[in-house]
Amino acid sequence: MAPSTPSTPHGGGRAGSEGSPAPTVAAPGTYTIEDVISGVKIFVRKPLPNGQEEQRKAEILSTRPKPKPSAFAPPPPPDAPPPDPRDDTEYYVHYVEFNKRLDEWVGGSRLITDKEMEWPKTKDEDKKKKEKVGKATPGASTPTRQAGSPRPTGSLLKKAATKAASAVGKAHPLAKGTSKGKVPQKSKGKDQSDLGNDEDDDQDEDGDLSVDADGDVSMGGSDGGEIDGDGEIDLSGPQNPQAAPKVFSKKQEIEKLRTSGSMTQSHSEVSRVKNLDKLQIGKHEVETWYFSPYPIEYAHLPVLYICEFCLLYYPTFTQLKRHRSKCTLLHPPGNEIYRHDNISFFEIDGRRQRTWCRNLCLISKCFLDHKTLYYDVDPFMYYCMTIKDEFGCHLIGYFSKEKESAEGYNVACILTLPQHQRKGYGRVLIEFSYELSKVEGKLGSPEKPLSDLGLLGYRAYWQEKIVELLLNSDDEISLEEIAQKTSITHGDIMHTCQALQMIKYYKGGHIIHLTDAVLEQHRKTMSKNRRSIDPTALKWKPPVFSRAQLAFGF
Ligand code: ACO
Ligand code: ZN
Repeated sequence: MAPSTPSTPHGGGRAGSEGSPAPTVAAPGTYTIEDVISGVKIFVRKPLPNGQEEQRKAEILSTRPKPKPSAFAPPPPPDAPPPDPRDDTEYYVHYVEFNKRLDEWVGGSRLITDKEMEWPKTKDEDKKKKEKVGKATPGASTPTRQAGSPRPTGSLLKKAATKAASAVGKAHPLAKGTSKGKVPQKSKGKDQSDLGNDEDDDQDEDGDLSVDADGDVSMGGSDGGEIDGDGEIDLSGPQNPQAAPKVFSKKQEIEKLRTSGSMTQSHSEVSRVKNLDKLQIGKHEVETWYFSPYPIEYAHLPVLYICEFCLLYYPTFTQLKRHRSKCTLLHPPGNEIYRHDNISFFEIDGRRQRTWCRNLCLISKCFLDHKTLYYDVDPFMYYCMTIKDEFGCHLIGYFSKEKESAEGYNVACILTLPQHQRKGYGRVLIEFSYELSKVEGKLGSPEKPLSDLGLLGYRAYWQEKIVELLLNSDDEISLEEIAQKTSITHGDIMHTCQALQMIKYYKGGHIIHLTDAVLEQHRKTMSKNRRSIDPTALKWKPPVFSRAQLAFGF
C-alpha cells in the first residue's frame, strides 16, 4: 500500500548529513500496520538473551504470509495464548547499524507502530543517490573483476535471485494472479551414489564461492626492517611518517565491523533476504545467517536436512533417514593429507568432486555473505578438516584455495561450521593454510575482502605468530625474515602491527614495538589450551596442474 499522507513534506525538514534529503517520516498515529511495506524503517522489538527487550530501528526488506506450521511441528500447548492476528504477516527486518547476520523474519506483533516510521526512498531519490555515487566512484555500481581473477560466468546468485523473486512474487498476498508455486521437475534431492560422476549431478543449481579482489586491507610496506635487542623492528627507510594510516582502537574497529554489515552489498534485493531458517547437519541444528541459492523448492522450509558426509540435502527428516541407510561415505571424498590425534585434513579437487564441492559451497554461503557466487568449483581445491569418532570423520570446517592464484592468495573462502565456532578450529584452519604455503615456498594471504569474523580470526592468528617470533628472537629480525618464517605477507604483517598500534616513529624511522597491552594479550592467548597443527603430520606435495587441466572450459 502506498503511503498516502506522509507527515513530513517530502524532501523538506531536516537535511541529511551529506546534503541528501531527509527521510520522509510518518509520525505516530498517521499510519497503520497495513502501511508497513518493503523499504520502510520502523522500530521493532528485539528480545535480548538476558530476557529483556530492546527497541531497534529496522528496515523492512520483505514481507510474507506466516508460513504454515510443518506437519512435524508439535501442536501448541493447550494453555498457549491465542495467535495474534498481526502475526499473520511476517516481515524480514534488517536492524539498522547491526550486522546483516542478525536479519530475521518477525511477526507483525513485534513492530512498534506507535513510534515514528520512515517511508521508503522514492525512485527519484535513489536515482539521484546513484548518480552521485556514480560520479564519485566511476563504475562503483557495476563491480568489475581484476585481470587474472576467476571469470564471472553466469552468476548463479543472479539465477537463484530471479527464481526466488518470481516465487516471492507468487507467494505474496499482494501479488497479482497468485498461483500455487509449481515445483520444478529437477533437483528433488535424489540419492547420489557416485559423487565423482559429473554427468550424474542430481542436485544442480548450486554454486561456488569466489571473490572480487577488491577492498584489499593489506597496506604494502614490504621493505625489510630490523628489530633491535628489545624486540623492536626498525622499519626505517622508505616509510613516510605522514603516510602512516589512521589507527582505530580495537573497540572502534570491532564497532565498525559490527555495524557495517557485509563488506559487499548483495547484488539483488531478493538475495538480501535469507531463504532458509535452519540446517540440520549431523546431530546439529544450525540457524542460517544469509541467503544461499538452494533450489527454490527448498526455500522457506523450516529446516533443510543435510547428510553430513555427502552433503546432499533433503526437505524432510524421513527422506534424510532413507538416504542415510544407503549412504556409504564416512569422510570427505578426497585424499587424507594430514592426521594428528583425531583431526584430519582431506584434499578435494573441485573438478573431480563437483557435486560434493558445490554442496559444500551451498552450505557455506549460508554463513558467508560477502563472497560473490560462481557456479564453477573446478578452479579450486578444498581443504576439509574433520574430527574422527566411531561414526566417521565429521566435517568441522574447510577452506578453498585457487589452483592458480594470480594475486598470491592461499585461501579463497574459509569457514568453521557455526556449531563448531569459537573453539579454536578457525585458527587451526588458518595455520594449516600457512603450512601449505610453507611447503610451496610461498607467502600467502586470504582473498579480500575479509568478513568481520574473517578479519578477527586472521588478525588473531597474525598477531600471535608475529609476537611469538619477536619474543623468541635473540637477534634483530627483519620484516623479511618474519615473512619467510611464517609465510605471512609483508602487507599483512604491517597491517597487523599498525592495527595493534605497534608501529612507532622513532629517530627518523619506523620501528615495531611490543606494547604492554600486546604482551599481556599474548600471555592470555598462550595460556589457553589450544589445538594446533603438527607440521610433521602433513603428507603433502603441492598438486601440479597442466595447462589443459587449468583450462576450466570457459
Ligand atoms: N568475536 C570476536 N573474536 C572472534 C570471533 C568473534 N565472534 N570469532 C573469532 N574471533 C577471533 C578471536 O580472537 C579468536 O580467538 P579466541 O577465541 O581465543 O579469542 C580467534 O578469532 C580464533 O577463533 P577460532 O575459534 O579459532 O575461530 P572460529 O573457529 O570461530 O573460525 C571463522 C573463525 C572461520 C572466521 C568463523 O568465524 C567463520 O566461519 N565465520 C563465517 C564465515 C566467514 O566469515 N569466513 C571468513 C570469510 S573471509 C575469507 O573467506 C577469506
Ligand atoms: Zn550421504
